[in-house]
Amino acid sequence: MHEIPNDLRRRLEQFGQEHVLSGWESLTVDERRRLVDQLAALDLEQLQRLHAGRHVKNSIPDLSRLAPLPRPAESAADLERFRRVGDEALRAGAVAYLVVAGGQGTRLGFDYPKGMYPIGPVSGKSLYQLHAEKVLALRRRYQSALPLLVMTSPATHDETVRFFGWYDQFGLGDTVRFFCQGTMPALDFETGKLLMDSPGSLGLSPDGHGGVLAALRDAGLFDFLSEQGARTIFYFQVDNPLTNLGDLQFLGRHVAHRAEASSKILPKKHPKEKMGNFVLVDGRCSIIEYSDLPDDWTTLQVGDQEPGVRGQESGELFFWGGNTAIHVFDVDFLRRMSEAGDAIPWHLAKKKAPFLGPGGQLVAPAQENALKFEKFIFDVLPLAERWTVAATERAVEFAPLKNASGDDSIDTARSALFDLAATWLEQAGGVVPRDAHGKAAVPLEISPLFALDADELAAKIKRGLRIEEATYFE
Ligand code: UD1
Repeated sequence: MHEIPNDLRRRLEQFGQEHVLSGWESLTVDERRRLVDQLAALDLEQLQRLHAGRHVKNSIPDLSRLAPLPRPAESAADLERFRRVGDEALRAGAVAYLVVAGGQGTRLGFDYPKGMYPIGPVSGKSLYQLHAEKVLALRRRYQSALPLLVMTSPATHDETVRFFGWYDQFGLGDTVRFFCQGTMPALDFETGKLLMDSPGSLGLSPDGHGGVLAALRDAGLFDFLSEQGARTIFYFQVDNPLTNLGDLQFLGRHVAHRAEASSKILPKKHPKEKMGNFVLVDGRCSIIEYSDLPDDWTTLQVGDQEPGVRGQESGELFFWGGNTAIHVFDVDFLRRMSEAGDAIPWHLAKKKAPFLGPGGQLVAPAQENALKFEKFIFDVLPLAERWTVAATERAVEFAPLKNASGDDSIDTARSALFDLAATWLEQAGGVVPRDAHGKAAVPLEISPLFALDADELAAKIKRGLRIEEATYFE
């Protein structure tokens, strides 16, 4: 390619973005082609519109439209019925798993896709392996197909596919499918100009996990799911090693209610915990992301007149429910959402992004300089006609790996894994040494291929089994 296509140049000029061509002469043919492809994929009008709204905080509904999410209450008979329905759905192979793994894990300081992080406290196995083995164990238990879809991003795709390849797809064969999410360009926050990474490439970032809708559609995966007979998608994030993929009640409740979307909720540790906040908006289940919730709303209590003005003291947080990012979706519902291209909004964020300076060198800015855009999958929740929620507990299902140290870190995720293993062992009649704080005193790990839950473990170990040293049940 030697020339810049005329219509492309005209369009760039029309939107004041012709600076992206300033390095054209120095580019190789391949670099030119790549740049033209990147530019041709942009909706410049949309970017201009989004930039014009950069000073408006991501829109959140007026408080008068909100109500706290009622705490789920169900009878033992209901729960038993849900278990049965969930069991039937898995046995019928009507469920597919979807893990989102496109994030770059910057906060963790790990230079590979986060799914490759060796989280296993004794085995050192990766997050990817742990999730894949849960799916494999469920396939074996239910004798059904249960596909696994892995959403990557351009930053994580090749390494993820290669990693699964090294391990022979962890035994999942060709019903593990990888698909890459889309990207959005970063704009200069003030001027709205496209930022460049190099003379031949735009500064692009993953378009958020809401990009899963377009990515599933573009990869033809809705048809694949139909062929496989999957009617329900179990959605989760790669960063949480505790996710219980075989939760029959959760799946069964969703199916029994013919719900379009279902979510797992956790009471937040404290009002400002970095979790999305469940709430009803006009009576529909919704999530307001922690970064969008005004600070003085976080401590709002049920019965308050307004933020900061206490009404009758209820002691109950309005935004009590944190988003575990574990959802179940009806496949047809997601397909419909993906067909309506703008079903969910863009969230705007001001961030630091390196950019190509006037001298042609990459500049690392000291201040936030860029406007970035992401879609969030949970914005489909209020569009669901029927939805269910289930409360869960941190110790059994939530220990995300976000940071190198401190909260939600390598240490907390590992110790959650071996504490859960210790609890299962004790439930199964084993004896586990505990330290002065009641924590398991030796590292323990139970492979999903050995046991997926305490009941399965109980059937495999002898009552009275004493654990004395680091142990891996595989
Ligand atoms: C996320 C949720 C938050 C929830 C918390 C629970 C969002 C916006 N917020 O917060 O409500 O309480 O997890 O742990 O998600 N990802 C992609 N592509 C992207 C961006 C992210 O696949 O473009 C994936 C990441 O790989 C990761 C997950 O989405 O698995 C979460 O992304 P992250 O940016 O870490 O969200 P949090 O701020 O941790």
